[in-house]
Amino acid sequence: MASDLAFHRLLKPLLFLACLAPCARLLWGIQTDDLGPNPLETVTHTTGDWALRLLLVTLAMTPLRRLVHAAWPLRLRRMLGLFAFFYACLHFATWLVLDQELRWSDIVVDIGKRPYVTVGFAAWLLLVPLALTSTRRAMRRLGRRWSQLHKLVYLATLLAVVHYLWLVKADLRDPLLYAAVFAGLMLLRVPWRWLFQERRTPRRGEMSGG
Ligand code: HEM
Repeated sequence: MASDLAFHRLLKPLLFLACLAPCARLLWGIQTDDLGPNPLETVTHTTGDWALRLLLVTLAMTPLRRLVHAAWPLRLRRMLGLFAFFYACLHFATWLVLDQELRWSDIVVDIGKRPYVTVGFAAWLLLVPLALTSTRRAMRRLGRRWSQLHKLVYLATLLAVVHYLWLVKADLRDPLLYAAVFAGLMLLRVPWRWLFQERRTPRRGEMSGG
């Protein structure tokens, strides 16, 4: 009971504010003209970085639940996932409006021509149905299909990691770090114990339950 109260009164609102902080920092930077020598680059990179970080944090909630033996990580998952989508939308919108200046024919050509843009766009596209079906109502309506659909988050994150690896020209350290975190989170999902369990055929006595 007390931990439930702490969750609703403290942890969730604090995390909500923490997730908003990068966006607030960007807005403050725009207001005070303090986004460095290339504001467009700063906005693109900050929103892209936070979209990817929050996707990874969202994926970390299931293993964290197993580690702490509590339900609260799963109750934060939806908010974190929606914030990841929020930053991915800001990132995409920055590219559409400020970089491409809404020249739709150039946009279509660029998405088809530059592999890292194609992959980034695919990652964003995969997140759209996940965000649209993130409500409790959609969960109830879709039943078992909901968890199957939401497995797309793995593919979306993989594509986002590839997008980053592909666009970096020189220093690969950051995208490789994200790739390693993603790989680690995927490895934690493998049911190792089940895979390596000795599969022996039961003896006759065991089969009859005796
Ligand atoms: C889930 C969706 C996406 C994620 C997580 C993501 C993530 C990222 C990341 C982490 C970066 C590098 C930031 C840095 O260097 O610090 C980046 C850069 C970039 N992304 Fe995305 N991205 C996504 C979708 C898109 C889409 C849809 C587009 C456009 C169609 C796009 C266009 C770009 C561009 C133009 C850059 C900067 C490239 C450069 O500096 O040369 N991204 N993105």
